[in-house]
Amino acid sequence: LKRIAVLTSGGDAPGMNACIRAILLTAAACNIEVIGFKHGFNGLLEQEYQTLHPQHVDNIIQRGGTILKSARCPALEQADGPARAAASLKELNIDALIVIGGDGSFRGTMAISKHYDGQLIGVPGTIDNDVDGTDHTIGFATAIDTALDAIDKIRDTADAFERIFLVELMGRHSGYISLAAGIAGGAEQIICPEFGPLSPDNLRAIIKPIQHAQLLKGKSSYLIVVAEHSYPGGATALAEALTKAIGIECRACILGHIQRGGSPVGADRILATKLGAYAVEQLLQGATLMMAGEVNGETCLYPLEKTGDGTKQIDPFLVRWQQQIGSY
Ligand code: F6P
Repeated sequence: LKRIAVLTSGGDAPGMNACIRAILLTAAACNIEVIGFKHGFNGLLEQEYQTLHPQHVDNIIQRGGTILKSARCPALEQADGPARAAASLKELNIDALIVIGGDGSFRGTMAISKHYDGQLIGVPGTIDNDVDGTDHTIGFATAIDTALDAIDKIRDTADAFERIFLVELMGRHSGYISLAAGIAGGAEQIICPEFGPLSPDNLRAIIKPIQHAQLLKGKSSYLIVVAEHSYPGGATALAEALTKAIGIECRACILGHIQRGGSPVGADRILATKLGAYAVEQLLQGATLMMAGEVNGETCLYPLEKTGDGTKQIDPFLVRWQQQIGSY
């Protein structure tokens, strides 16, 4: 390996910078040149890149976002997109490409592989944690803490005003952030896509525990964490439906992109460093079309094409426990 490239793609995640740093430092120690494409796959298609040197990654381990910028890339999904991306890699003499992103970015990487002889490897970077082949993705731990900080604050005002609050968290079509932050925040209820469809016609399962808590326990605050895409119209529509159904005002708070920002927590910096370094080491061993992940504390490779299969389970112990205590 003489020259490798790295890019960050899709929703940015805290820890992406730590990962770029680990890739550069590991490669530099092996005399491998690293270039960074800007704005995800767009930079690859447009040949917008910079050669990275150790000074570029000084003082970035603690920074959120990504120094390479990130983006989604509709151009890669066009019929000629993957072939153009592969041609660009060949033209720039890139021996291997490391893609830091989620399963959508890995799908794009697989498409490029049909036209490219070099090595391709993925590193899971997304707050959603919805990538198979790794227990945690880079950014997930920070997103939990960010959401938790907000939940704790909402709890204060909910308690003071004796209100019911619905807090909507990100996760795309998964409930990893909601389950984790909901449990840690002591939420009375957690609603995730994994718990089955919720529609305006089957709200009884949610309403009953609220009424039970109010009548029998005299709770002064009640928090429901709602994963995005769990209810048509989101937490705002659900708050309106619940207000109508139980006759008590329910308020919604949509946390949004705050969850993507901020300085990565220690766990994310360590995971990002480990997976970035491991990706370079595995490239040197000849790995390709693999994702560098971590399972049970051990680094491991996982086939890139299977990272979006959705086989990873949301913690069944916590799901069972939360549902068991749901009416208290
Ligand atoms: O994948 C990360 C994520 O933040 C999801 O949680 C969310 O559904 C999506 O990206 C939002 O994307 P955008 O910033 O393009 O609206």
